[in-house]
Amino acid sequence: MESRAWSASLAVFFVLLAFLHASPAAAVGGEGEKVLTLDHSNFTETVSKHYFIVVEFYAPWCGHCKALAPEYEKAASALSNHDPPIVLAKVDANEEANRELATEFEIQGFPTIKILRNGGKNIQEYNGPREADGIVNYLKKQVGPASAEIKSLEEATSLIDEKKIFIVGVFPKFSGEEFENFMTLAEKLRSDYDIAHTLDAKFLPQGESVDKPTLRLLKPFDELFVDFQDFKIDAMEKFIEEASIPLVTVWDNDPSNHLYINKFFESSNAKAMLFVNFSKEQDSFQTKYKEVATLYKGKGVSFLFGDVDAGQGAFEYFGLKEEQAPLLIVQNAEGQKYLKANIEPSQIASWVKDYVDGLVKPFIRSEPIPEVNNNPVKVVVTDSLQDMVFNSGKNVLLEFYAPWCGHCKKLAPILDEVALSFENDPDVLIAKLDATVNDIPSDTFDVQGYPTLYFRSSNGNLVPYDGERTREDIIEFIQKQRDSHADPTSTKSEAVDTDSIKDEL
Ligand SMILES: *[C@@H]1O[C@H](CO)[C@@H](O)[C@H](O)[C@H]1NC(C)=O
Ligand SMILES: *[C@@H]1O[C@H](CO)[C@@H](O)[C@H](O)[C@H]1NC(C)=O
Repeated sequence: MESRAWSASLAVFFVLLAFLHASPAAAVGGEGEKVLTLDHSNFTETVSKHYFIVVEFYAPWCGHCKALAPEYEKAASALSNHDPPIVLAKVDANEEANRELATEFEIQGFPTIKILRNGGKNIQEYNGPREADGIVNYLKKQVGPASAEIKSLEEATSLIDEKKIFIVGVFPKFSGEEFENFMTLAEKLRSDYDIAHTLDAKFLPQGESVDKPTLRLLKPFDELFVDFQDFKIDAMEKFIEEASIPLVTVWDNDPSNHLYINKFFESSNAKAMLFVNFSKEQDSFQTKYKEVATLYKGKGVSFLFGDVDAGQGAFEYFGLKEEQAPLLIVQNAEGQKYLKANIEPSQIASWVKDYVDGLVKPFIRSEPIPEVNNNPVKVVVTDSLQDMVFNSGKNVLLEFYAPWCGHCKKLAPILDEVALSFENDPDVLIAKLDATVNDIPSDTFDVQGYPTLYFRSSNGNLVPYDGERTREDIIEFIQKQRDSHADPTSTKSEAVDTDSIKDEL
């Protein structure tokens, strides 16, 4: 499979969006490059030699990569004499021969930077800044201990950035299971959070002293700090994930909110997103929405309040239109979406309750059915899936693809040839569906990457195609799997409810 599940791409689209505002950078200085260039031939060998190495996966055409390049080089130069060594490297993930590396590292957007420790045994996401000084400071912290000890008020003041989330473990002594688990977690979360431990909570800017081991999360919003005393690793992790998202995440043009918007999209909770025109109707919605968010706190739903203007990426991603605002959309953990267009403040509470009670029908996105569909490989969209695939009485080979996917582009001429070879066979249909803009029934098709191919015989037998992607193999497979006595009346009905979109709109 070429790339990971597309359900993850929501976080990616925001990440990309966030860097649209990155400042343009100066030209690249040529000689004496400190950044190592790696490729498939020497990646593993080089990484295995380093305790700590940072790798940027980039593409030559990517604008954010070009903006980052001089900053990255400057940082590499500043860090080249650091003790312990901090090495910065880059891989052209667009290069065909390096694609496998990109897949291995689950690269979904450019640039993606990873921190590899221990000869590549531990891999972490780089979540730091993108300008030289910021990169240097972030990496210096990353190469040091995952959790710093706080021994005084002064140390606390210098370590704790009050505009950021800060995690502190307060312990009567630095030993025992609670402490060990905390340190393990610190190692795991170090690239996402600033973390420290202390013997005395009185050094901290928020909260009372405690005598039991306590995890205290300091945050610049809502209640400003929260304590937690269950030191099982996954319990702490879940707690941190939830506590570090504001009750209502605000999506406007303020860059200091971007971190929380990212966290919101990375959360495993169901995500409720209310988009209104902030310059017109922010106030009338905000109070009501906050009340609802308070009601569902800790119950598996996260809330975001977005400006129609600032949130245009989300509109594109979900296939929404500005006329539908004010709108409330929920995406659950399984990726299903629920939509209430043109909502009024007084309707928020009851609609969210209906959603939680399972009374709202999912919103299913589809491109319009094309008026002309004359190419050898026919275009299927969600709204025509029923007619063209399930009820057509044909033997259908259906490709799920993404426009940006390289393996799909390679497959396209092969599918054309396959389709041409069945041109005079009315019982066989070769079709494709752009899965980035059409929702597909996940209980019927398991699409974890692109391209994914399925074959449905005219008598209703549905099988994935996992063979070689060659003309010969695909044709042979179709001939073997097809039902030669096509009879539309014998088709099993695998109903896909695509009408619900219209119900909702
Ligand atoms: C890895 O190989 C590439 C291509 O041969 C080369 O340009 C690069 O300098 C090599 N990197 C290292 C660290 O050896
Ligand atoms: C939001 O409202 C303002 C003021 O009524 C209007 O000028 C603007 O065009 C609206 N923006 C959008 C995206 O609808």
